[in-house]
Amino acid sequence: MDTIVGVVGAGAMGSGIAQVALTRGHRVLLTDAALPAVLKGRDLVADALEREVVKGRMTGEAKEAALGRLQVVEPDRGVTPFRECGLVIEAIVERLDVKLATFRALEQVVSAECVLATNTSSLSIASIGASCRHPERVLGVHFFNPAPVLPLVEIVAGVRTDPVVAERVARLVDSWGKVTVRAADTPGFIVNRIARPFYGEALRMLEEGVADVATIDWAMKSIGGFRMGPFELMDFIGHDVNYVVTESVWTAMYFDPRYRPSLTQKRLLEAGLLGRKSGRGFYDYVPGATPPEPVKDETLGTIIFRRTLAMLVNEAADALYLRIASAADIDLAMTKGVNYPKGLLAWGNEIGLGKLLDHLEALQCETGEDRYRPSPLLRRMVRNDDRFVV
Ligand code: NAI
Repeated sequence: MDTIVGVVGAGAMGSGIAQVALTRGHRVLLTDAALPAVLKGRDLVADALEREVVKGRMTGEAKEAALGRLQVVEPDRGVTPFRECGLVIEAIVERLDVKLATFRALEQVVSAECVLATNTSSLSIASIGASCRHPERVLGVHFFNPAPVLPLVEIVAGVRTDPVVAERVARLVDSWGKVTVRAADTPGFIVNRIARPFYGEALRMLEEGVADVATIDWAMKSIGGFRMGPFELMDFIGHDVNYVVTESVWTAMYFDPRYRPSLTQKRLLEAGLLGRKSGRGFYDYVPGATPPEPVKDETLGTIIFRRTLAMLVNEAADALYLRIASAADIDLAMTKGVNYPKGLLAWGNEIGLGKLLDHLEALQCETGEDRYRPSPLLRRMVRNDDRFVV
């Protein structure tokens, strides 16, 4: 691979992205604002590659060759060594001012052909590109955590991104064995937007007393086929991270009630019960704690699952309606980025769009809340007795 890849930010995402590019034969330059962080990033890559060798997925020689292609750039050198790069992926702290300063510094040194990508989850590509002299070469390349494991990458072109640049980068990332989808430069892109009801509706049902945490998780796994229940998953992600994503999508969507965060989750966060990492969230993780027993009632479980699914399919339909992504990319994104058992549009077809619409209308009527408003596309599909083509 000829393209030299630069990665700025050597944390969880940056080190994972560096590993992906190294494994695919690139020379990679990795830096961070702090020396311990960049050294830790290098160790993370080395340890992860060693695990690949132990699992028999990589030879010892290939590992050594990959590590030989990794060049750690010490922070006091700035980004000057990045002048050699054909692609730089920024994966630093999620703050616009800090990202803008990084992009400006990069533009001072890189060649005219170099593409500048951001791994941002919540900032707009337009706002990052606007700080650059050449916004046409700035785009979003959004990996999922852990980057070496999850295949999905959302390719996001901002209003001023050259579409040819976006396509070229997408093809390069495809050649890394990733699955790329094209997403509009809108809050949450595809996955972080469409996945909101998975958490939000579970929290809402808990607040309404429909069922307890363990029962809702049991229903989503046993009846819905999801790998983890919503409360287990929130505890795993951490309430600090999960709550902030929800709040940022809600704010960026001008406070659309469909994305409104939950006070229950906010209180957990305020109490310092962040989930697994702090030993307690919705569940207790101290050794010896007795896990709560779900009520394994099929009828109740089906109600829970159908309500969340109706909201998820509605969100997917609305993303299609608003041209956030194609139907095929929407379904691919949810299966490859967050391991959903089926694409949501295909799942909607299977369950019956009319049934899902009835469910949403019943919830909207009962609660009087705009949160449950059906997507105009879902209504149109049902009226025309149509199915999603994915
Ligand atoms: P992290 O906290 O693990 O790593 C961020 C790194 O950036 C730290 O090592 C920090 O020292 C470094 N840094 C901060 N300011 C810097 C600067 N001015 N120059 C160079 N390095 C700097 O964070 P994480 O999770 O890796 O996130 C990085 C980016 O990736 C963020 O934009 C985040 O929104 C995005 N992202 C995170 C995902 C996740 O699940 N953690 C998933 C997808 C995207």
